[in-house]
Amino acid sequence: MSASDQENVRFSKGLEGIVAAESSVGYVDGLAGKLVYRGYDVNTLVENCDYEEVSYLLLNGELPNREQYKDYSSSLRKKRQLDNDTLNLIRDLKDTHPMSALRTVISFIGARDNRSIEPDLETQKSISIDLIAKIPSVVAAINRAHNSKEFISPDDDLPFSSNFFYQALGRRPDKDEAKMIDEALILHADHGMNASTFTSMVVISTLSDMYSAVTAAISSLKGPLHGGANERALALIQRVGKPENAEKVISNMIASKEKIMGFGHRVYKVYDPRAKILKKFVETVTKKNGQENLFLTAEKIENIMAQTLGSKGIFPNVDFYSGLLYYSVGFDPSIFTPIFAVGRISGWTARSLEYLSDNKIFRPRGMYVGNRGPKEFIPIDDRQ
Ligand SMILES: CC(C)(COP(=O)(O)OP(=O)(O)OC[C@H]1O[C@@H](n2cnc3c(N)ncnc32)[C@H](O)[C@@H]1OP(=O)(O)O)[C@@H](O)C(=O)NCCC(=O)NCCS
Repeated sequence: MSASDQENVRFSKGLEGIVAAESSVGYVDGLAGKLVYRGYDVNTLVENCDYEEVSYLLLNGELPNREQYKDYSSSLRKKRQLDNDTLNLIRDLKDTHPMSALRTVISFIGARDNRSIEPDLETQKSISIDLIAKIPSVVAAINRAHNSKEFISPDDDLPFSSNFFYQALGRRPDKDEAKMIDEALILHADHGMNASTFTSMVVISTLSDMYSAVTAAISSLKGPLHGGANERALALIQRVGKPENAEKVISNMIASKEKIMGFGHRVYKVYDPRAKILKKFVETVTKKNGQENLFLTAEKIENIMAQTLGSKGIFPNVDFYSGLLYYSVGFDPSIFTPIFAVGRISGWTARSLEYLSDNKIFRPRGMYVGNRGPKEFIPIDDRQ
């Protein structure tokens, strides 16, 4: 790009405020604190639907009728089981961080599916449904291997979220837990052009394939500024330990300009609606499991953050309470971000398919700020 070209472009660090694609999958209203999937407020969806319905909605644009729901649900159930090669790989990766294991396993499954080279929409949609069905089993198996436990086969009588809970923890959820895990997965299913979703769209835009798009999305989700924040948010709550310690720890962190994980958002400048819903569950579940102290500590951290940074639009995001919620029912912190992926798989695939249906390869420009030269060339033996 020449210097004169550069005068006509707008640069925005981190693409902040840049519109990179049109979508009718969902939107986030960061000022009103609203999250919408295909026109439905997410609060309405968590109250009335299960994850399978929401996944169908994201993928197809409309909620399923009874028959479509039955077909979609049964096709997901049929594809849940992992083959022995995949389970052996998961066993081999038992000491790897679960997000790295997840990335590798999805790539492995994709490498053995010859359909992936066909870039047409129908094939990629069929792969998407396979991935939606399999990713909970992969994450559950990674959790089992990571904790040196035997794998558990899927239970065909259990719906998507409860089956994931069962395969991961080795016990069937009670009614509250089943509702909690289902709502948590719905709340993570889609969230605008976040980093991992954008990553998956960039990959699919080259006419690569859905396995590659999802593998890349997992790599993007892994970072602590994105999906990795939930693990660190819980670590902070545990480190603070009790409400009385919160003031000192948080003030020191703010004074030294440390980021408090689980707070702040590029789009939300008010309370994240997902955090509001999850907080309600955390209170109930921690009370039931004798871990109320952790909830009270988290709430105290939230209050201090609201007093000090609320005026800057920094409030709890989805990651602040999700980690605590998963922990209180028995999930290991290292599996929190993979659980995020179990929910987000529907958004990744829905948006990638939508983009593929009217594709244009992503190819932004960079702003060259280096030396424009020409510099004098010095032979290697003469260089200092
Ligand atoms: C999510 C996040 C990456 C958004 O980043 P962003 O839009 O680029 O905003 P910035 O990081 O530039 O933050 C803007 C200002 O708010 C402050 N801020 C943002 N999040 C903060 C946090 N969690 N704790 C303390 N200060 C924070 C920044 O220090 C910065 O202050 P400054 O203007 O004095 O320099 C950021 O809020 C963050 O790092 N949060 C913690 C990680 C997290 O929870 N991620 C999960 C997101 S769902």
